[in-house]
Amino acid sequence: MEFNIKSGNPEKQRTACVVVGVFESRQLSTPAKAIDAVSKKYLSNLIRRGDMNGAKGQYLLLHNVPGMVADRVLLIGCGKEREIDDRNYRIIMANSIRVLNKTGSLDGVNYLSELTIKGHDHYWNIRQAVQIAEHVLYQFNEFKTKKQKNKRPLRKITFTVPTRRELPQCEIALQEGRAIANGIKLTRDIANRPSNVCTPTHLAQQATALAKGRRALTVKILEEADMKKLGMGSLLCVAQGSDRPAKLITLEYKGAKKSQRPVVLVGKGVTFDTGGISLKPASAMDEMKYDMCGAASVLGTLATVVELGLAINVVGIIPAVENMPSGKATNPGDIFTSMSGLTVEVLNTDAEGRLILCDAITYSEKFNPAVIIDIATLTGACVVALGKYATGLLSNHNPLARELLNAGDESFDRAWQLPLWDEYQQLLDSPFADMANIGGRDAGTITAACFLSRFAEKHYWAHLDIAGTAWLSGKNKGATGRPVALLVQYLLNQVAQPRRK
Ligand code: BES
Ligand code: MN
Ligand code: ZN
Repeated sequence: MEFNIKSGNPEKQRTACVVVGVFESRQLSTPAKAIDAVSKKYLSNLIRRGDMNGAKGQYLLLHNVPGMVADRVLLIGCGKEREIDDRNYRIIMANSIRVLNKTGSLDGVNYLSELTIKGHDHYWNIRQAVQIAEHVLYQFNEFKTKKQKNKRPLRKITFTVPTRRELPQCEIALQEGRAIANGIKLTRDIANRPSNVCTPTHLAQQATALAKGRRALTVKILEEADMKKLGMGSLLCVAQGSDRPAKLITLEYKGAKKSQRPVVLVGKGVTFDTGGISLKPASAMDEMKYDMCGAASVLGTLATVVELGLAINVVGIIPAVENMPSGKATNPGDIFTSMSGLTVEVLNTDAEGRLILCDAITYSEKFNPAVIIDIATLTGACVVALGKYATGLLSNHNPLARELLNAGDESFDRAWQLPLWDEYQQLLDSPFADMANIGGRDAGTITAACFLSRFAEKHYWAHLDIAGTAWLSGKNKGATGRPVALLVQYLLNQVAQPRRK
């Protein structure tokens, strides 16, 4: 999609469709009032007759509106003007894009970006608008032989701002919005691929493709033999049941001075999680192809960082494995030594995410990280606790947690913090090894994070559990691209005010 911004009068727009808002009840927005004026009260007459009252979700498509240069006018119900917060803005904007796309218009000028949203400026509106438009129009067709083709697809959307003064700042919003949307799309595409295509090798190829031709980004792939030399017994004990070889992928982005310590992003890349010998039940097991969404979000975030050329150093680390039962697989009770030297009793082979992440975290120490953030579809318990709206956040450093929570609020890709108190650590006690890999029924998301925290003690570290937020189930099944928007916002904020050490 091509995006533009401008400021100007709706009646003068030479376009297939002008999109404006109507508030509940029967209040015209400022641009709608302008159209009403040039059309001799065409809109207010329609509204008085009851064709539309402005409720959220309503819309009305009009042709040949008097006084208008544009072919069509699309009225979008915005609900009560006072109630338009960030969430409602996103819903309204999404509705407008969906409808606009179905009108047959090849382009449109959308005035909804001029709405006033509590706590936000037009920079935010524009950036969100671009992301929402790309989100709504996203389709995953790679495996359809007959692609659904819109015969008259929307090609260009122009968003408006009320004053010319805002154009320079909103031009930046447009550029950032595009880059974030591209990163999210990459994440969704990779995540949606089935496990017979999206293997650990495929993830390595995707990382290699991302780095290709980009000087600031370098890639390094470790094979199982390399990992064995490094002593990654924990990661390899997950990989050993699969015929598909594990990969440890490192992407290094250098956007700042060498001396600036990098933000390290570690993404869980389990390309399929059967549970291993602790086999999962059959129902909805297909969704465990999404167990690499953390990895996909690291790739998407780095794609955005590269596109924006952010002045920051970022390292992406992806432990990529498949968790399978087989004659070679790990059995419950087996004990392994992790790269850190700590030993782990694997009581449940389905708690595999932490087993690959712990070695990836230890490996990440060689980059002298400013902070380590891991992103993982780690626990079903997180879905029980927070549902599909909030990402679970746990951290050993409260200022870092705060920054991530704020980045989530700002980007509307929100997270919610859970405690990481010492009391929970004892749930991981093992009679035979330094720790067990599960902590029993209680507080599953917290004990998973407790496990990881033992490998991150020397660093500022945060963990994002995206088990509930990375994909949707049911009739809207598909990857969401979360938490790319959160991570990019965090990095953007770091560039603005680098963390002092
Ligand atoms: N990948 C799963 C977590 C998961 C399950 C995410 C369902 C989204 C939906 C993870 O590897 C797992 O199996 N975790 C176990 C941990 C348990 C054995 C302690 C779980 O959550 O049941
Ligand atoms: Mn599992
Ligand atoms: Zn898993």
